[in-house]
Amino acid sequence: MMNKILYYTIVLAIAILGQICPIQSFSQNTEGGLFASERLILTPKPKPSPRINGPLVYGARPGNPFLYPIPCQGERQIRFLVKGLPPGLTVDENTGIISGVTPAKGKYSLLITATNSKGKSTRELTIVSGDKLALTPPMGWNHWYAHYDRITDQMVREAADIMISSGMADVGYQYVNIDDCWMNSPKHNDPKRVGPLRDDQGNLIPNSYFPDMSALTDYIHSKGLKAGIYTSPGPLTCGGFAGSYQHEEQDARQFADWGFDFLKYDWCSYGKIAQNLDDPRIPEPINGKITLEGYQYPYKLMGEILKNQNRDIVFNLCQYGMGEVWKWGASVGGQSWRTSGDLGFELDRIFEVALKNSEYRQYSKPGEWNDPDYIQIGYIGHSHKQGIPELTWMPPNMQYAYMSMWSLMAAPLIYSGDMSKLDEFTINVLCNPEVIEVNQDPLGEAAMVIKQNEELFLMVKNLADGSKAVGMFNRGNNDAEMTLNFSELQLTGKHLVRDLWRQKDLGRYNRKFVAQVPSKGVVMVKIENK
Ligand code: GLA
Repeated sequence: MMNKILYYTIVLAIAILGQICPIQSFSQNTEGGLFASERLILTPKPKPSPRINGPLVYGARPGNPFLYPIPCQGERQIRFLVKGLPPGLTVDENTGIISGVTPAKGKYSLLITATNSKGKSTRELTIVSGDKLALTPPMGWNHWYAHYDRITDQMVREAADIMISSGMADVGYQYVNIDDCWMNSPKHNDPKRVGPLRDDQGNLIPNSYFPDMSALTDYIHSKGLKAGIYTSPGPLTCGGFAGSYQHEEQDARQFADWGFDFLKYDWCSYGKIAQNLDDPRIPEPINGKITLEGYQYPYKLMGEILKNQNRDIVFNLCQYGMGEVWKWGASVGGQSWRTSGDLGFELDRIFEVALKNSEYRQYSKPGEWNDPDYIQIGYIGHSHKQGIPELTWMPPNMQYAYMSMWSLMAAPLIYSGDMSKLDEFTINVLCNPEVIEVNQDPLGEAAMVIKQNEELFLMVKNLADGSKAVGMFNRGNNDAEMTLNFSELQLTGKHLVRDLWRQKDLGRYNRKFVAQVPSKGVVMVKIENK
């Protein structure tokens, strides 16, 4: 009995102590800002009054179905009003979903107003009807690093629900993307994923966890979100499921008919095909080596086919950077291309991977994005083991650095953790609209790395309004003081400095800004050009 009382007293004392002094450590910077090394939430809670987020430009192809949910934070019920909508498009004033058919080629300037009982927000949006898609980096979710070969229709629907309920859609996340393992496999430990790969007409057969693909995309679209799918140009995908080799046209048409808006096109099992001298379609290797044309061929083929569908389908090349894909990804119809192998295997080298990806910054522009792979925070499954999702080992400061680097690099922002386990901290890292605005800036420039040593580096991104977004990164094991000289940004005199994670003006600084940057972390600021 006595033992029990003692036990409960100790438990109670620990709980009270935890409330009084939460286990967080801080260091003070010279300007008085606080930098946390624990799971401290930096992103201010959204206000009850509306705040419209999302890109300022949106590309779509004339005559195709159009779908755009106005990302907006604030207490519901919000009423949406859009001025300047071209014929063919309407807005649902309660949901803020703009839909219809994309108008004739041209630029259409809209003025969006969102109103609730607490206030009002306005924002411009230009719809650019033409050839280009993804004028800003695609944002969304992909199942891979959470669910691997366990993915089901139910999980994808749940992800769509949570994209809305968590507030992710309110800051611009839109794509709900299925990765590998939705088809049948010739052999798999789960018999429900084994079956004929195609029917008598050669159509792909989804496995039994995906009973009705059209119903699934309808569900996703009904929320204003978009749906993505995956295949490989080889006979089998990386996971050993049905690939699209010799069925490219038929599969692309099928994806369009089902209602998909995004295709990730891998490489797996295509290597052998590229060496196959019997297929007259395929450029021959030289001395056993795949040529540049050989690397390009499957993507050119699929890129052409996708362009001819009556849907806007964003094309994501996933061939890990072979043949310097950043130089030609756009010319074969891609909107983004992976620049390296799977980040899942390299998550501990995240700074290094980002610095490598930054070397290709000159190829980043509206509609053409370098893709260093997904945002893996929150609950993710260990990729070597394709494990069940567990809370990431990544230190909180490094998660802020991760999201900051991806934003500064104008990388696609695709979250790949378990949506059903999204916690407040993870949402705070994923959903800071001022950080995302840097990513979605219409100029489409990727940050330049300036001043780099073994531990510290600076990333600078020019923004369309003439200001600069700057990430001050510290890869070292100790907090470090970093100085940003305005002359390095081609700026002189005094400038307003805003802390983007805290959404707080830090004041006007003369000639330089000095910050204490936490170990493995970042200070991300915007330097106004005034
Ligand atoms: C490759 C890709 C991953 C994922 C898997 C699926 O490894 O790079 O992103 O799509 O295939 O098997």
